[in-house]
Amino acid sequence: MTELQEWELFKQKLFAKSSINLNDYKPAQMQRRITNFSHRNHAEGYLDFFQKIDKDAKLYKTFIDYLTINVTEFFRTPEKFNELESVVLPHLLTKRQRLNIWSAGCSIGAEPYSLAMALDHLTPSVRHRILGTDLDVEMLNKAKQGLYTANELKNVTVERLKRYFSVQNESYLVQETIRSRVELNRHNLLLDAFEDGFDLILCRNVVIYFTEEAKNALYRRFFKALRPGGVLFVGGTEAILNFREMGFESYLPFFYRKPVTG
Ligand SMILES: C[S@@+](CC[C@H](N)C(=O)[O-])C[C@H]1O[C@@H](n2cnc3c(N)ncnc32)[C@H](O)[C@@H]1O
Repeated sequence: MTELQEWELFKQKLFAKSSINLNDYKPAQMQRRITNFSHRNHAEGYLDFFQKIDKDAKLYKTFIDYLTINVTEFFRTPEKFNELESVVLPHLLTKRQRLNIWSAGCSIGAEPYSLAMALDHLTPSVRHRILGTDLDVEMLNKAKQGLYTANELKNVTVERLKRYFSVQNESYLVQETIRSRVELNRHNLLLDAFEDGFDLILCRNVVIYFTEEAKNALYRRFFKALRPGGVLFVGGTEAILNFREMGFESYLPFFYRKPVTG
């Protein structure tokens, strides 16, 4: 079997096992990442590597973590998060009292919990809906636990640290009042159905390995999932150049708005 045939079969087998479709990811980067990982684990080719991860649950989990790169932090890209808190959320709140927000690809929950804290400050008595979803169940379990390292909290102000976290040994636990405001579900952005009626969708640092086609299709689906006037917030390196083609209007850098009319 040629290397290309092995790669094709590997993709099919991995999809059957994990529902991750590697055809939606940029092939050069993905193949390099997977080859590096499989060499480190002494596999001889893609199929030998698949057998290894199929037999060894721990290795499989490590591989999925590696593949999906779960790194995150609270209030990531603070200057953009500040803009979210001081401009975007207040403006959305002038239109609707209770917001429906989706943190798509939320990893271990730092992003939806940051949102819950920002909204607690802006509208203390209102229960908004904050949905956090990710492909990776292990990450969602961590999100539910709500335990973080100091490094993940480096953008959290001292005031918020005192107010929303308690120290547990070397870690920091997010207070239950914040955790209870976030709904966490498993969801594959490239496969599963989307809800609609969102005022705000955050999809940041998730699409880096997606192909252009997969990214475009995803952004079009986000457009449909937003209410008129709703906003899509993307990562600091993920500006959407063809946003107008998808129906979005320009708003602020890295924020795209669905027009109220049309
Ligand atoms: C780097 S984290 C980003 C977390 C957070 N949004 C942030 O900006 O800090 C990327 C997350 O996207 C998730 N992810 C990757 N592909 C996905 C897919 N097809 N559907 C849902 N989540 C996906 C990964 O599991 C990972 O937890």
